[in-house]
Amino acid sequence: MFNKNSKTTAVVNNGYSTGQQSVVLNVGNNGYGMPFAVQQMVDSDVLAEKQRIDGLVGAQSVTSDAIVVQNLCKTFKAFPAVDNLSFGVHKEECFGLLGVNGAGKTTTFRMLTGDESLTGGQAWIGYLSLRQDLQHFQREVGYCPQFDALLNKMTGIETLFMFCRLRGMTEDMIPTYVKDLTAMVDLTPHVHKCTETYSGGNRRKLSLAIALCAAPAVIFLGRVTTNEPTSGVDPSARRKIWSTLASLQRIYGSAFVLTSHSMEECEALCARVAIMVNGQLQCLGSVQHLRHKFGQGFTILAKLRRDMTEDPSYMASIEQFVRQEMPSAVLKDVHQCLLHYHITDPQMLWSKMFALMEDMKHRFSLEDYTISDTTLEQIFLSFARRQR
Ligand SMILES: Nc1ncnc2c1ncn2[C@@H]1O[C@H](COP(=O)(O)OP(=O)(O)O)[C@@H](O)[C@H]1O
Ligand SMILES: [Mg+2]
Repeated sequence: MFNKNSKTTAVVNNGYSTGQQSVVLNVGNNGYGMPFAVQQMVDSDVLAEKQRIDGLVGAQSVTSDAIVVQNLCKTFKAFPAVDNLSFGVHKEECFGLLGVNGAGKTTTFRMLTGDESLTGGQAWIGYLSLRQDLQHFQREVGYCPQFDALLNKMTGIETLFMFCRLRGMTEDMIPTYVKDLTAMVDLTPHVHKCTETYSGGNRRKLSLAIALCAAPAVIFLGRVTTNEPTSGVDPSARRKIWSTLASLQRIYGSAFVLTSHSMEECEALCARVAIMVNGQLQCLGSVQHLRHKFGQGFTILAKLRRDMTEDPSYMASIEQFVRQEMPSAVLKDVHQCLLHYHITDPQMLWSKMFALMEDMKHRFSLEDYTISDTTLEQIFLSFARRQR
């Protein structure tokens, strides 16, 4: 079930409120002869993904995913930067690989693009093996780095022609391909300008187009956009790039692996996300699934009528209603006419909460209310604390 160096020793609760099960692996060997006795808690979804990958490899069915990564390891001296990573990205899927600085994302990307050697493990794109068919494997990989690496004195079109040639596209196919690609990313009016004249948004679009040259099977994205004000990409332009990405995925059939510091971006784009800490995956699944599994409850903001807040009996009856109907609610803050509750029961149904809030709205003439789930950001931060 596991690689030969791993041994299941116990099944434990992962400590989160839903009580889903995890497995402790007693890893006796780091893959090249150096014993270390580390007890690792493996999340049930991460384990299930590893078993899925081992199953695909065992059955020689690696072509069913766009890319299959098995037991990927990278050690710098004795430091495990990437530690037994196993995952697959489905065809046409956008998969998010998240983690704070130092988690091992770039090292993972660099191994999968062939820029860094592997200490252990293997990866396949179709039948192409990263170890055995590196050059062909690389042709199937596009890379859009975190920071735009453009050649300033080249025009957009020259850049794209160059990358199509580098990826081995035949000369007669390139002009049409580049024309369609620039139209897709909405760069046509600028293709004959030197890239040094490009705005932040256009530089990002060209970087995306570079990654798509010669339609690779898998595209690694350092990020899509950024919400830093200096990037020159405003919110509506970001949404535009996101929707472009979704259509590129549909049209070119590529799978994307995205690592982004923007949780909003991951939520908008990724079907599944995994959070990496100290070179290992800590959780994996759709954002909805992660919220359900690791969510710490809900936030309710109730806006009271200003003229009523002076009335102590009104406030007392609200308090009594909440205590009775939502026993897990904790009052976090009262700010002017705004009551902020944290519902600590993650199993509380949305339908029940809305029904209660509608009732409360009518009984107490609330001006308004909002109910919100744990954000991906909150979940991410709770894992990030474990980073060395
Ligand atoms: N060439 C290298 N030599 C030594 N240590 C490295 C090297 N590259 C990365 N590391 C270390 O590996 C860990 C993971 O780094 P990295 O893959 O860049 O993480 P991330 O991209 O998630 O921030 C970090 O602790 C980093 O210092
Ligand atoms: Mg990095």
